[in-house]
Amino acid sequence: MSDLNIIEFADWSEYELLDTGNKLKLERFGDCVTIRSEPKAWWKPKRPELWGKADCRYFDDDKKNSAWKFYGKPHAPVMSYGNIKFHTKFMNGSKHLGVFPEQEPHWRYIARSKSYATLAKPKLLNLFAYTGAATLVAANAGFAVTHVDASKPSVDWARQNQHSSALDGAPIRWLVDDALKFVQRQVRRGERYDAIIMDPPAFGRGPKNELWKLEKMLPELLQSCSQILAERPIFVLLTLYNIEASPIMAANILEEYFGKIPGFRVQAGELALSAKNGYPLPLSIWGRAEFR
Ligand SMILES: C[S@@+](CC[C@H](N)C(=O)[O-])C[C@H]1O[C@@H](n2cnc3c(N)ncnc32)[C@H](O)[C@@H]1O
Repeated sequence: MSDLNIIEFADWSEYELLDTGNKLKLERFGDCVTIRSEPKAWWKPKRPELWGKADCRYFDDDKKNSAWKFYGKPHAPVMSYGNIKFHTKFMNGSKHLGVFPEQEPHWRYIARSKSYATLAKPKLLNLFAYTGAATLVAANAGFAVTHVDASKPSVDWARQNQHSSALDGAPIRWLVDDALKFVQRQVRRGERYDAIIMDPPAFGRGPKNELWKLEKMLPELLQSCSQILAERPIFVLLTLYNIEASPIMAANILEEYFGKIPGFRVQAGELALSAKNGYPLPLSIWGRAEFR
């Protein structure tokens, strides 16, 4: 069975999409209201009266000098997701605050999927794992997590989130590594994982400058991932941003590499944010293979 057109909306009171338009988005992270560029917002704002309330704005028209501007005292909130804490940060050169709220449906899915595990501590591999949102949700739900990201500052930030979430004792392996090289090493060592999640960027670099190009290298990564899945795995979850792709493509490629595993079924769709009285905003596509 497959369902290839599921739109999943984040449901998280700490975050709100207030409005979008003119290629910008107005958002609330905790108690901080931000304006950031949003290439997908082709329309005009529906709630222009709200935009004057922003605490800060990221200016990136001039890519070389992109920077945050604050209209009051800068304040980066710590956001709560149940008992999990995410530190946000404003850094010039990046419009991202360290958490992607549209991924909240994935966090719910990961926590829910733990109940399908037959093992007490199933092993989950998180590739391109950034500041650890999915890692901490998975660890909190009872997975033993291997977190892999090329960026040491991102891994340090994820560990800060772990500490603030009082999850210091949780079974998490933190690794600064190239995702593809890491998985290939796991194949050689005969390691096995019960679940894999990955959020590969269109383009990236490993810690030793290894090149990552999604369109060229995703098949090789999925092939290697298929070799490190446990005999009876739980799921493989793939998220894709900013590339010419559709949910059907995500479903097809998952079927190609995981379709022969008993119980395989695939679902795919988009992650989106809803805005009260505003337009919903699509942000990425996803596909997930399940085996039951
Ligand atoms: C878009 S972020 C992932 C967001 C994350 N899944 C979340 O929801 O918070 C992409 C991450 O891929 C990492 N990355 C880029 N190239 C990589 C590579 N070759 N190997 C491992 N990680 C890489 C970056 O450091 C970055 O943290």
